[in-house]
Amino acid sequence: MSEAAHLTPNRPFEVSPLSGSFGGEVRGVDLGQLSDTLFDAVYDALVEHQVLVFRDQKLTPEQYLAFAKRWGGIHQHPFMKDLEGYPGILEIVKTENDVKAFGNGWHSDQMFVEKPAKCTMLYAKEVPERGGDTMFSNMYAAYDGLSDGMKALVHELKGWNSGDRAKLRARKNDVVRNSGTPSEMAERQPPSDMQTETAHPLVRLHKDSRRKALYLGGHTMKLDGFTNEESAPILGYLKAHSAMPEYTCRVNWEVNSLTIWDNRCVQHYAVNDYQGMRRRMHRITIAGDEVPVSG
Ligand code: SIN
Repeated sequence: MSEAAHLTPNRPFEVSPLSGSFGGEVRGVDLGQLSDTLFDAVYDALVEHQVLVFRDQKLTPEQYLAFAKRWGGIHQHPFMKDLEGYPGILEIVKTENDVKAFGNGWHSDQMFVEKPAKCTMLYAKEVPERGGDTMFSNMYAAYDGLSDGMKALVHELKGWNSGDRAKLRARKNDVVRNSGTPSEMAERQPPSDMQTETAHPLVRLHKDSRRKALYLGGHTMKLDGFTNEESAPILGYLKAHSAMPEYTCRVNWEVNSLTIWDNRCVQHYAVNDYQGMRRRMHRITIAGDEVPVSG
């Protein structure tokens, strides 16, 4: 059946799969000209596909912010710098001379606060000649892929999530070894009154899809009620399991590509394989509107 055969009045655009597991590339949508009906269809498509890529979008910062506001409140980052004149848009730059890349470890955004980020969007302004993809992992599939025994165990557990950069950097043998930004902005510490430690259930019930997702990532440091030593093998197993290639998809960027992902059911990872080249993205984070509940 052709892609066009999937067009319906409620979804008048094509979505091509990004991988066997999840993610979709949307064709035929101009994000600067979305009617309410079309926005609802895009929202539903995100709930279904978890990650959506839109190519060749020509948005001014004002249009980008207006599109973002349709998803919820815009998260104002407490310690990272906004794009000059556009509060809510973070400019993430890796220059030819930078070694580290922001987001270079599996994570879901803002897991360390009570109401973690709902969605995040990235809009590509400059891309390297090759490399610099963003990877995603499908946390529904990761949950579904556990044995019944492990499912029963994780249902009982909560993970403590930390946004404290010193603690995150101090960890050894963890997937977020190189987390940080090449520029000064991500080296800043959060304000002292910002919440940086929160426990959330390891199985999260998604409000819109009603599906169960594993809910953990690079911010998850230990299990509630367990010692560090007891937590490490369980969390290590679950983190490695949720990053299995079968559960992933990958976005290869072009200038003017815009990708949005649902932090409630995916993790993401910025691939740092473009040393000596430049990449510049505009990121907007949509604030969380709920405390995660267990499935
Ligand atoms: C992030 O973690 O938001 C950065 C993702 C990327 O730059 O690919």
